[in-house]
Amino acid sequence: MSSSHSSSPSGSGSSRRRFLRTAAAAGAVGLASRLTAMGQESRGANDMIGVGFIGCGGRAGAHMSIINQFHKEGIARPVAVCDVYRPRLEAASRKCGGAKMYNAHEELLEDPNVDVVCIATPDRHHAPQCIDAINAGKDVYCEKPLTHWAQFELAKRVEQAAKDKGRIVQVGTQYMADENYAKVGNMIKEGIIGKPVHCQLGYFRRGDWGERMHVPDPNAKPGPDLNWKRFLGDAPEVPFSVSRFFQWRLYWDYAGGPATDLLVHVFTPVFCLLRLDYPQRVLGGGGTFQYDREVPDQCNIIADYPDGPSVVMMNSLSNYTGIETKIRGTHGIIILTSRGIRIVPIDPKTNKETEEIFFKWNGMGDTAKLWRNLLECVKTRQQPFSPISAAVRVQAPLSMGIIGHRENKVVKFNFQTQSLELS
Ligand SMILES: NC(=O)c1ccc[n+]([C@@H]2O[C@H](COP(=O)([O-])OP(=O)(O)OC[C@H]3O[C@@H](n4cnc5c(N)ncnc54)[C@H](O)[C@@H]3O)[C@@H](O)[C@H]2O)c1
Repeated sequence: MSSSHSSSPSGSGSSRRRFLRTAAAAGAVGLASRLTAMGQESRGANDMIGVGFIGCGGRAGAHMSIINQFHKEGIARPVAVCDVYRPRLEAASRKCGGAKMYNAHEELLEDPNVDVVCIATPDRHHAPQCIDAINAGKDVYCEKPLTHWAQFELAKRVEQAAKDKGRIVQVGTQYMADENYAKVGNMIKEGIIGKPVHCQLGYFRRGDWGERMHVPDPNAKPGPDLNWKRFLGDAPEVPFSVSRFFQWRLYWDYAGGPATDLLVHVFTPVFCLLRLDYPQRVLGGGGTFQYDREVPDQCNIIADYPDGPSVVMMNSLSNYTGIETKIRGTHGIIILTSRGIRIVPIDPKTNKETEEIFFKWNGMGDTAKLWRNLLECVKTRQQPFSPISAAVRVQAPLSMGIIGHRENKVVKFNFQTQSLELS
């Protein structure tokens, strides 16, 4: 995206931005062909896709390392960073070779050098910042979960905005970085295990990662270097607390506990394999039995889909003895093992298992691969591995499970109004 390419329609910042918006409206054909052409020439710094980071904490550090590596490969480069806490903002800029610093994400989105935005803020900001980025004509890598548990309506708005504006959004569940899901999804659709009727999946580990979140300055206070109001966003206004600011994962106002932090990782592949839509009802259970925090440390969710399957999601933060992900069909089973995907069909005539089919993992869990896929999609305008349409529908049972747990109720999905209902 160079000012050095005289044939490029992107000479100055504002004309370049205008070009990107026009390209979006036209299905980004121009951008695609220009980027493809760039792949065949030697590229200067300004030709690379510019990445801006909103939120510069722990997770963003991993994303910055990936983009720094891509910079060496001539694929993309970090150009801007934004955070509400000055020490992290400055550290991020240093890590990103002096990337431009912004205190407000709206200002970063005005930067014409930013083509793709990486959103790695606390959950509550994902959807509003995603919508702002889409409206500013940017493509997006948005960390999971798509929204805070109480923002399901906003999740739908992100999907609509991306559709309306023709923007690509990769949602950061890195387990999705594997082509095998598409292949196995087709086999399931064609009936390799009959009708999928029951699924089990889980995420287990020992330890509360909220409490483990680093408090770099116990004396930190709101002021020019720490914007508490911006941290809160649309969360309830409460007095500043160092723990809320640095250890936000412990609190319902900013986080949803294991459902939106962890189960989202294991459920997304199952959701995509089965090409599910919204569940008809969800039961959420669990509790805070071990650690000193608001959000639960044990979490179980049952999501029933119309005409199946019934999906059982299990979590404990007390022990890492886990369960394998299994999709049971009327004529076979699919098991996601640590090595790959095992498909064991059952012959309906003999009722016996037939020879199993095995796909070795190829990138599952690889965040860099998820990024490469996004940058490819920026050129091709194809949907990425972890698309927004899936993330919205993955968010539904997770939000419903949390709401049901908190309210002691079953939560239903109203298919007519596309909204959640307590019963
Ligand atoms: N995919 C994964 O494996 C994975 C792993 C860890 C975290 N995450 C996700 O990444 C997100 C960030 O988690 P983290 O561990 O990096 O948290 P963190 O607290 O370390 O980082 C969040 C950063 O966002 C900044 N911030 C807060 N409000 C902001 C605002 N309005 N504008 C700009 N910056 C703001 C904070 O100051 C902080 O520096 C979470 O949603 C989490 O679920 C995903």
